Amino acid sequence: MKVTVIGAGAVGATCADNIARAGVCTELVLLDIKEGLAEGKAQDMQQTAALLGFDTIITGSTNDYSKTANSEVVVITSGIPRKPGMTREELIGTNAGIVKTVCENVLSFSPNTIIIVISNPMDTMTYLALKSTGLPKNRIIGMGGTLDSSRFKYQLSQHLGCSASDLSAIVIGGHGDTTMIPLISKATWNSVPVTSLLSEDQQKQIVADTMVGGATLTKLIGTSAWYAPGAAGSALVKSILRDEKKLFTCCVALDGEYGQKDICLGVPVTIGKNGWEKILPLELSASEKEAFEKSAAAVRSMNEVLG
Ligand code: LAC
Repeated sequence: MKVTVIGAGAVGATCADNIARAGVCTELVLLDIKEGLAEGKAQDMQQTAALLGFDTIITGSTNDYSKTANSEVVVITSGIPRKPGMTREELIGTNAGIVKTVCENVLSFSPNTIIIVISNPMDTMTYLALKSTGLPKNRIIGMGGTLDSSRFKYQLSQHLGCSASDLSAIVIGGHGDTTMIPLISKATWNSVPVTSLLSEDQQKQIVADTMVGGATLTKLIGTSAWYAPGAAGSALVKSILRDEKKLFTCCVALDGEYGQKDICLGVPVTIGKNGWEKILPLELSASEKEAFEKSAAAVRSMNEVLG
């Protein structure tokens, strides 16, 4: 099993590190355009193998895509991250060109790969990957909702004083500060609805804090976050390579599901050896449906910028 991570910045390197530690593939390639960066980080990571007990062979490459040949999964993290005060959407001008070129290069050496998109604006970059590669829709997965759902669980766990992994909670819609929809009405603590445990004000606060989760970190750190984004990418890789069929919220091509067509947006999907395999239906309230439609409209107008 071979996995490639494109982009050896903080998100790409963290994602690769998590994949290596999980021991789910035999070969892992880290590629970057910056001379020596991927080689250096790959070597540093490989030097943790004796300490952490994994056997994955990690190779770094300065823009030589032949090293990525025949990857089962490719994670794309390329592009510039946001700076404090910026929205993810503002990155489109720079990142669209980068992601398009990366997709072409990836495809020429791994024509049957599954692509996981992390680059921002993630919903539009996922749509771009789908259109520019022509791969079957199940092989293109945007990571955003997986990360946002984990941040949602973090916020809930802080208020409930519980273990985040005991929670079932998802964020659907876009991966933008105003387009994501944390579904608090459906969130449970081991089947107990969280709405029965939290005040209205707490619920509002949790939803609002989840939506600006990435922006809050960007303000604190000075650039965009990487631990949770990297871990989210790695969790998807693991579910694919082990055919776990775990349920995540991912940005996938909708063809009538949730009332949308010709768009990639976050919905609950199972992730297994074929990429995303099944979209699960959710019964949304009138206001949740309206939020989903608004989110789709915003993402659609970003997608139009690509043209
Ligand atoms: C974030 C970036 C990776 O939300 O989109 O941290």
